[in-house]
Order: sequence, then structure tokens, then C-alpha cells
Amino acid sequence: MIRLDKYLADMGVGTRTEVKRLIRQGMVTVDGAAEKSADRKIDECKTHVRVGGKEISYAEFEYYMLNKPAGVVSATEDGRDRTVLDLLEGRKRRDLFPVGRLDKDTEGLLLITNDGGLAHRLLSPKKHVDKTYYAKVHGHVTEETARQFASGIDIGERQEEWTMPARLQIVEAGEISEVRLTIQEGKYHQVKRMFQAAGMEVLYLRRESFGPLTLDETLPLGGFRKLTKEELEFLL
Ligand code: URA
Repeated sequence: MIRLDKYLADMGVGTRTEVKRLIRQGMVTVDGAAEKSADRKIDECKTHVRVGGKEISYAEFEYYMLNKPAGVVSATEDGRDRTVLDLLEGRKRRDLFPVGRLDKDTEGLLLITNDGGLAHRLLSPKKHVDKTYYAKVHGHVTEETARQFASGIDIGERQEEWTMPARLQIVEAGEISEVRLTIQEGKYHQVKRMFQAAGMEVLYLRRESFGPLTLDETLPLGGFRKLTKEELEFLL
């Protein structure tokens, strides 16, 4: 059971203040009868709510996959930069947020949802959720780098901060190397700091997968779509 004004705000009818006004104006009906109290408790699974005659059905959670471009920040609001939520054109819900962060210059898969429980489960290091990144790095990546990453590497600046075992796949080794790196944590700037600790610099970074989700290659940079039923089943 939730309050009528929250139901309408969650479904993007307006802000809490705007929907309260609509309710006061008698624009909202609950099971066919005009309802003037915003705190009326309703059953989101059973009750029929209409605004100006239009049925507003309730979906508790929404899940989107975004192909994040460089230059936008993984936040819900930012005084200066565009955020990943600004890219979700037509977005009505106000309670969406990105699950974890990609750096401003990192591209790739970002999950956006309003399901706080799922976000918590996916971000917990204890859950060992794989995140795979494709990276171009300045420096010659070798099997020794892979061994270092597999056993954990100290990325601390002032005191020791060891990473959990990570898998490094060398795609191409050279002065500039290309790799895929799978980690199960999300420490601040983790991939960049791991390569830095190994004496290399990340030049380009893109997340290709997150748990069971793989970046949809048909999504252009900045493009997004709802998760499919199958993706959701894997995720939940
Ligand atoms: N590691 C980084 O260094 N940056 C990211 O954006 C993600 C992982």
C-alpha cells in the first residue's frame, strides 16, 4: 500500500506538489470515485487510478541499460556537468539512479534503475559480481601483469590497499596494449589505479559487462533501452 501522491509522482505524473494540486482539483479518481486526499493509501496492484480520465498503472521498478559516453557524470544531479540521467530522454520517473559509477571519461554499460535492493546486491564486494572492462593502456602488458592482477595488487597511495584477484586477458600487447580486465570490486578509479600500480596509464576505458548483463552493441554512445525480460530474470 502506498500514498496516492507518491503513486502518481513515482509514475511521473508530476512532482509531489504538482500531483497534490491535481488531487485537490478533483482530477484524480480512485476506483472510479474522485479522491481529494493525497495521503489516501492505495494498493498499487489492485487499485485503478486515473488522472483526467487516463489510467495510470503502477510499475514499481524500472531497469535501463545505458551506453554511457565520455563527458557525462554518473550522478543523479550535478551543478556543472550533464548526468547520465539527463541522457534518458522522455524519462518520467524521478527516483532513477545509476548503479555504481563510471568515471566521467569512461564509456560503456551502466545500469539505471530505481530498485535500491538490487543495486545494493550488485555493488556489494561480497557478492563477487564480475565487471569486465576493455582498456587501451600506455605500456607493454605481459603475462607478469596478468599474474600480478590475479594475485592482487597494492593500489594504495599512502597505505596499502590490495585489490581482490582479477582476470586480465591480453588482446594485443605493444607500446600501447589492449586488454580485457574483469574485476569483482568497484574501488574508486580501480582499473586506472591497477594499471598505474603496474607502471602503465589507461588511455581509454569501456565497460562491456556487469554481472549477467552485456553491453548491447546496437546501442550508440548515449543510447539506452529497457532491459529485456531475459536480462531481468538473470539479474534478479
Ligand atoms: N575503473 C576506473 O578506473 N574507472 C571506471 O570508470 C571504472 C572502473
